[in-house]
Amino acid sequence: MKKALIIAAVASIGMMGVATEASAFNVKKCKACHAVAKNKVGPAWKDVAAAYGSADALAAVFKGGFKVGDRKMIQANGKWKGKAGLMTGQFKHLIKGHEDEAAKALFDAVAAGKI
Ligand code: HEC
Repeated sequence: MKKALIIAAVASIGMMGVATEASAFNVKKCKACHAVAKNKVGPAWKDVAAAYGSADALAAVFKGGFKVGDRKMIQANGKWKGKAGLMTGQFKHLIKGHEDEAAKALFDAVAAGKI
């Protein structure tokens, strides 16, 4: 009986670990559409970093709901506007709730030269 309780406790701790991991920010998911130095589905992150200037400035736009009118890449080049919906979906699923982490991860990737 005692052993069963221990097993249950260990199992639930293990599940908590998985749950934390699932909700954590994962920058690798951004790679599907972004690279540091070249445009893919979305703009090159070195250009994004240059447009925002700092992780704090990008985090502030994320925290403001990432409105299309606040997005600097779209303001700089209208060609991205038609794809805004694609990025809005990613924002809702991957970034919301992790705004500071996501902005820092983007600037770290640019500094490292890879996502
Ligand atoms: C399914 C493809 C896709 C994925 C995955 C994706 N993006 Fe994007 N992203 C785009 C597209 C398309 C644009 C251009 C439209 C726009 O700027 O809103 C973009 C633009 C951006 C911009 C610039 C917004 C602006 O206009 O100033 C940032 C910042 C950004 N993405 C961050 C991220 C981060 C961080 C992730 C990972 C959590 C991510 N993206 C994942 C497609 C994607």
